[in-house]
Amino acid sequence: MKIPEEGTPPKDVLEKMKDMRKDDADWRAGKTFSLVYFLDDEHTDLLKNAYTMYFSENGLSPMAFSSLRRFETEVISMVADMLGGVPGAIGSMTSGGTESILMAVKSARQWARVNKPGIEKPEVILPITVHPAFEKAMHYFDLVPVHIPVRDDFRADVEEAKKAINENTILMVGSAPAYPHGVVDPIEDLASIALEKGLLFHVDSCLGGFLLPWLKKLGYPIPAFDLSVNGVTSISADIHKYGFASKGASCVIYKDEELRKHQYFAYTQWPGGLYASPSATGTRPGGAIAAAWATLQHLGQDGYLATAKKIMAITERFKSGIEKIDGLRILGKPDMSVFAFTTDKGDIFALGDELENRGWHLDRQPGSLHMMITPVHENIVDDFLSDLEEAANKVASMPAGDMSGMAAMYGMVAALPDQGQAKDMIVEFFNQLMKPGA
Ligand SMILES: Cc1ncc(COP(=O)(O)O)c(C=O)c1O
Repeated sequence: MKIPEEGTPPKDVLEKMKDMRKDDADWRAGKTFSLVYFLDDEHTDLLKNAYTMYFSENGLSPMAFSSLRRFETEVISMVADMLGGVPGAIGSMTSGGTESILMAVKSARQWARVNKPGIEKPEVILPITVHPAFEKAMHYFDLVPVHIPVRDDFRADVEEAKKAINENTILMVGSAPAYPHGVVDPIEDLASIALEKGLLFHVDSCLGGFLLPWLKKLGYPIPAFDLSVNGVTSISADIHKYGFASKGASCVIYKDEELRKHQYFAYTQWPGGLYASPSATGTRPGGAIAAAWATLQHLGQDGYLATAKKIMAITERFKSGIEKIDGLRILGKPDMSVFAFTTDKGDIFALGDELENRGWHLDRQPGSLHMMITPVHENIVDDFLSDLEEAANKVASMPAGDMSGMAAMYGMVAALPDQGQAKDMIVEFFNQLMKPGA
């Protein structure tokens, strides 16, 4: 394609865009169970106004826009407090969970270069359920992932973590909760091992950081998971997930500023002048920082508590409805509003395809379908459960091997004996998908 030779008036451009999005997933109607966190229209209007107020500003330089610097430092301070940070806990805003994780890992690598200089190939202990952003960090920063299994309850196996530590280990990780089954790892046990062995410990609370603290206040039995746990040295929490800010807003918080300094990048030899940047990106959209601050001001603790209560009430309706359907069961004991279910009657991916045919988009994972509940789902619980029951009955009576669509694709990837081949296949799939006209 070429850039159009002649420009188009704004009204026509917007019309065209409206037309182009007509086949997109209908998240407003509660048809998706990942990717979008929507609270309500009033809140979204505030986000848009706050974002557009700072639409042109750039958070790269903390000197130019002092209000943005204030927003960011205040957001970090409030989030550190929410996540059990003692005075001195400090961090940065980033563009999302992945960048927060990349920064936490990069800081650990820099810390180890200073504090454990003998290590040539640093190792990081990762329960297999951690978000792939950690694998990406290993890939980008040339670190060695040491995977440990999870127990039958899908929580990281502490004994295996202990066994995996050696003289090259620099960092251990736990999730609160991990995405696949929505369960919190035994953070206290893992972090105490890290402390004893002189290692860093990062809690990935990108998904739960803005929900678990309120659930705890509401009386839910949430295991200790945050900076108040002895041995936890950093934590990530996404404001653009259950914090309900606009996209492009996450926090990474360290127990003290010594650790945060390892995240910063500075270069002094550039003909363009002195350059310093706190995180992975250069330009940082001012709108995302401003909208995050606006969200915390607007919702307040009472708003987050009320939202958390509502989300859990909706989640309970889904979970009990699913458990009542013949053959279906929830995996493990999810700690919040994220969970996976499977079927004992028929193929789970075929069930995913049947739901897709009925307009419901659920993420597939090995052996289960995944759901992440938000307030937008309040009005569709019954419709969903009725479609799910119908789909589950249909799949239960399908002959084995009678699969098409995503079920066939997942089946094929699962059947490949060679991980490398599976990776190549997925890369090629993306390669084809990201071509104009695909
Ligand atoms: C537990 C967890 N960590 C990290 C991430 C990555 O967040 P992002 O997609 O904002 O980069 C996710 C995303 O779902 C997640 O669930």
